[in-house]
Amino acid sequence: MDKQISFADTAVQACPFPAYDALRDEHPVYLDPVTGHYVLTRYEDVRRALLSHSVLSNRTPFLGDRWSPEANRLFETEGWLPMDTLVSNDQPEHRTYRSLVDKVFTTGKVASLEPRISEIISELIDGFVAQEEIDFIRDFAIPLPMYVIAEQLGVRKGDMALFKQWSDAAVESTGPVAPERELALAKTLIEMQLYIAQEIERVRVFSDDKLLSQLAHVEVDGRRLSDRELQSLILQILSAGNETTTTTLGSGMRIMIERPEVAESIAVDGSLAKMLTEEALRTATPLQCLWRTALEDVRFGDSVVPAHSIVELRFGAANRDPGHFDWPAEVNLNRDNSNSHLAFGAGIHLCIGNQLARAELRLAFEALTRRLKNFHFSRGADSCKQLEGYTPYGLRELWMSFDRRRTARC
Ligand code: HEM
Repeated sequence: MDKQISFADTAVQACPFPAYDALRDEHPVYLDPVTGHYVLTRYEDVRRALLSHSVLSNRTPFLGDRWSPEANRLFETEGWLPMDTLVSNDQPEHRTYRSLVDKVFTTGKVASLEPRISEIISELIDGFVAQEEIDFIRDFAIPLPMYVIAEQLGVRKGDMALFKQWSDAAVESTGPVAPERELALAKTLIEMQLYIAQEIERVRVFSDDKLLSQLAHVEVDGRRLSDRELQSLILQILSAGNETTTTTLGSGMRIMIERPEVAESIAVDGSLAKMLTEEALRTATPLQCLWRTALEDVRFGDSVVPAHSIVELRFGAANRDPGHFDWPAEVNLNRDNSNSHLAFGAGIHLCIGNQLARAELRLAFEALTRRLKNFHFSRGADSCKQLEGYTPYGLRELWMSFDRRRTARC
């Protein structure tokens, strides 16, 4: 390694893969000279870290309750102060929340949503099919997960623009927020809380089969979620679920444009949409990393991470580890261990929305290739604009064109 790598470097963030290869080989436990984090890049190390919740805590300075006293007061007086429930929590409290939420996010629940997800996908394709050029992110990848979750939270169609602002604010609130922006952000989130509170009141009286109603009524040992807990969970679902699914839809489409044979294979055999889903998650992992706090000295191979350090789990590097995946940078629809990627984490914090996200991605890729063909970038080298930031990886714009398929597949 000629020069010191840091993940604080925006050039490394834009394309982290050469850095991953260098570190995985030479420094699998790497002390980042700028952030001071211990960075893990090998599949086995990242996986072991995810499973070591008793010594690696999810309570870190990056996620969870870290608002200023002023913003705290605003939440307390006008809304509900966000609290640690799942992703920024440890055992035993995490287990309490997780067992409640697990009762709602079931395989059966996701299966029951599939027909509606397919309808939303069809409506979105109908909306742009006559256009010569689209921004796939704006016209499809953003609205799909947003509409799916909005309906489940009782958000009305006419309020979708508002919901988009709230969902963006939820994502923004998970990153470093400038002090002058914090109060405005808190106000936007409180607006959402007040809207959701009305819905919670309604479904407590008239329950239905939507997620919000199920979360409001779910019980473990006679315990139900309080309003504050429900509000915190919803914030987490929005911040964790929308942008990540959007990004993966964009990555899947990019693969189909760059490798037309992938789109054609799925058009011939729709069941391969599942494989594209896993390969997009693996090769273009939408959340490149998350963190843990070491509660004691923790050994990885020959290295020891000292107690109290921040450990950075690089999912994006683990998912391209040649020690686990053959020819890891290649998208391969026949790969037999594709779904062992760590894009959704593993262990007690395994993404609760993974089945929902997988269903949306699979149904989307299947429908897009069934109805459309000849996907092309429409603006040459300017067709793709990348997301910026420490953790996300993917596109924020994808300008493309396509042809309609005249003969529908059965
Ligand atoms: C492609 C889409 C998605 C990706 C890549 C993703 C990624 C992740 C990852 C890596 C974790 C583990 C966090 C950790 O170990 O600390 C996680 C947890 C979580 N995800 Fe997702 N997620 C996605 C979609 C969703 C969706 C659609 C929802 C909700 C509808 C959701 C809700 C959550 C929640 C609530 C947690 C916390 C679980 C816990 O701590 O027990 N995610 N997600």
